[in-house]
Amino acid sequence: MKYTLLELIGLASIGTVSWFVLRGVWKFLYSTFIGHALGHSLSLKNIGQWAVVTGATDGIGRAYAEELASHGLNIVLISRSPYKLQNVAAEIESQYKVKTKIIDVDFTNGIEIYDRIKKEIEGLEIGVLINNVGMSYAYPEYLAEVPNAAEFSLSLINCNVVSVTQMCILVLGQMVERKKGLILNVSSASAVLPTPLMTMYSSTKAYVYKFSEDLALEYAPLGIKIQCVLPGFVVSKMSRYKKPAFRIPLPRDFVRGHMRSLGLEFASAGFWVHKILLGYYTKLNMISPSTVVNVTFANLNGTRQRALKRIQLQQEQQKQENGVENGVENAKDK
Ligand SMILES: NC(=O)c1ccc[n+]([C@@H]2O[C@H](COP(=O)([O-])OP(=O)(O)OC[C@H]3O[C@@H](n4cnc5c(N)ncnc54)[C@H](OP(=O)(O)O)[C@@H]3O)[C@@H](O)[C@H]2O)c1
Repeated sequence: MKYTLLELIGLASIGTVSWFVLRGVWKFLYSTFIGHALGHSLSLKNIGQWAVVTGATDGIGRAYAEELASHGLNIVLISRSPYKLQNVAAEIESQYKVKTKIIDVDFTNGIEIYDRIKKEIEGLEIGVLINNVGMSYAYPEYLAEVPNAAEFSLSLINCNVVSVTQMCILVLGQMVERKKGLILNVSSASAVLPTPLMTMYSSTKAYVYKFSEDLALEYAPLGIKIQCVLPGFVVSKMSRYKKPAFRIPLPRDFVRGHMRSLGLEFASAGFWVHKILLGYYTKLNMISPSTVVNVTFANLNGTRQRALKRIQLQQEQQKQENGVENGVENAKDK
């Protein structure tokens, strides 16, 4: 059978596209379901006695702490609020029969907090580090309009960027000595997709992604696994989603999903729906970036406008209440 040149080009194109699609589908199925079922995902057995989790009292961080405790690891919980740390530690100890240690620090502060963390974790055999702590905007906003933008930018960088870097520096030495260890750095899907009106946040998460990518290459020959997590929306205080939905899992379901792909892929969106969405949007962004930008801009700007309206209403309500109080005071004086 003879083919014309045009037919050959057409067949080659169909073959190439089919190969890319099948490869993508196989990678998704293997890293999400098959690899784990075959026992190929990273085992936490003998990795070390302790796991350190930053931002461990709520949301995704708390879910990681509980999941790791369920694998028998003792947990160092690091967060801001001492009473929340005590409560979560007590719950983990009683439910999973493991040891815990709590460290209350505010990651928006400067480098001095790491001296304290270093002293507190000294002598512990740390097998796992989850760099989860993070903060975001109160609502999407133009850079120069973000309330207290200059001060906020420093807090954001300290909390989202410096924390990840410093915590890795603190634990890598002993992991290298034992030639084993796992570090999970929690970034965000916003690190790899256009995210106007959240520029500072998404840029800090892009740092986490690139930092993890190069660090993983640096330390792989020394036996250390470093992975980056790129979640979409998860029910939490930060996301302000209160109820789970098809594309918005509970932190527990997100983390369980992600644990199945441990060691199977460097960067993971974790939850299977997020993996499909991230795959879809990154491909669409390659084919038609303006579509992705327009959709994201419209969504985030809608959220921004609703937030600004809510703030305006609250301010008007406050003014009215102050007016009534002043009126009552004046009437009393008379
Ligand atoms: N939720 C999402 O939809 C989503 C999507 C993409 C990426 N992420 C990333 O996932 C990570 C966790 O987010 P989340 O939604 O689970 O957050 P979350 O529910 O708001 O929990 C944040 C945790 O971090 C702690 N924390 C916050 N600021 C801190 C500070 N300055 N110093 C010390 N601890 C601090 C909190 O402690 P306190 O309770 O004491 O405040 C809490 O334990 C973040 O890095 C975030 O960027 C989340």
